[in-house]
Amino acid sequence: MGNNNSSLKHKNKKIETNKEIDNKTTELEEKKELKYYIPNNYDDIDRVHMFHFLQRYIFQSNFSSPIEERLMQEKCKVLDVGCGPGTWLLDLANKYEKCVFYGLDNNPIFPNEIKPGNLNFIKAGMFDGLPFPDNEFDFVHQGFVLFVVKADQWNFIISEMIRVTKPGGYIELLEPFSSFRGFGPIVRKIHEAHLASCSERGVDMKVLPNLDKIIKSNQQTPIVYKEERFFISGPNGGKVGTAHEDIYVGYHDNDAAMENLSPILGISKEKYKIMITKDLVEELKHTSPEFSLLRFWAKKINNN
Ligand SMILES: C[S@@+](CC[C@H](N)C(=O)[O-])C[C@H]1O[C@@H](n2cnc3c(N)ncnc32)[C@H](O)[C@@H]1O
Repeated sequence: MGNNNSSLKHKNKKIETNKEIDNKTTELEEKKELKYYIPNNYDDIDRVHMFHFLQRYIFQSNFSSPIEERLMQEKCKVLDVGCGPGTWLLDLANKYEKCVFYGLDNNPIFPNEIKPGNLNFIKAGMFDGLPFPDNEFDFVHQGFVLFVVKADQWNFIISEMIRVTKPGGYIELLEPFSSFRGFGPIVRKIHEAHLASCSERGVDMKVLPNLDKIIKSNQQTPIVYKEERFFISGPNGGKVGTAHEDIYVGYHDNDAAMENLSPILGISKEKYKIMITKDLVEELKHTSPEFSLLRFWAKKINNN
């Protein structure tokens, strides 16, 4: 995993912080094909917040790396890559007051003013290399970037996360997955359309369960742990299922999703709307589609 020069690349890199959020759209508006996958308005941001609390409930924790004691006792530095509105960071910054937190995203939807003093946000693109020196952070986290990372970019982004982590520190990734078990025809169609749309952009979701292999291929993270938690979406999945259904339906019931998915599904926008708001909701009452959340974590060793 060659990335030895990447820290040098950042020496002259301009870092912008805390840019004002545009309520309606962000500058990513110009990247039309990604609108569906990137939070762009307050509804999208609400869903990202909800997903954070859902994953925390499912795992009963905010992370799986064994770093809690260190975060409680030491002045650790923590980075979240592709932090979105910063929900994970806000949760942690309030709890681990001695630590300093950094969120990085190229779409500045993070809060500018109302945030804890130990939390900083940086506007930067993760594919340009992380704008930090080597061995800087005790903990480097990334969550739910599956729709924006192309299959051939995972190696680079993971090697960057490892590079900026201190020896003895941890990296951790969180991604959702599904192997289609229990899917009814509507969820299956939506999921397949979604996969096709991702695949057109070079994003391959089949990579996700194998992220441990990519992490392991780096000499500095030879041991990788993986934890998968399964849940059913919809009323048959209890409280978690109902919460996931709200997020799932909301995620697909909007103009960006409709514009992106209705042509792939070969149906009109009107039919798409009915499919999501009526047929999908009805199907979920009678089926038990299984989804899962995957966490991967590894300690960086000093192999110099
Ligand atoms: C689905 S959101 C996840 C947000 C957050 N990690 C969470 O779990 O709540 C994906 C995030 O990746 C960000 N992103 C996409 N491309 C990026 C890039 N090239 N550099 C940095 N962030 C990027 C998007 O702006 C978005 O906020």
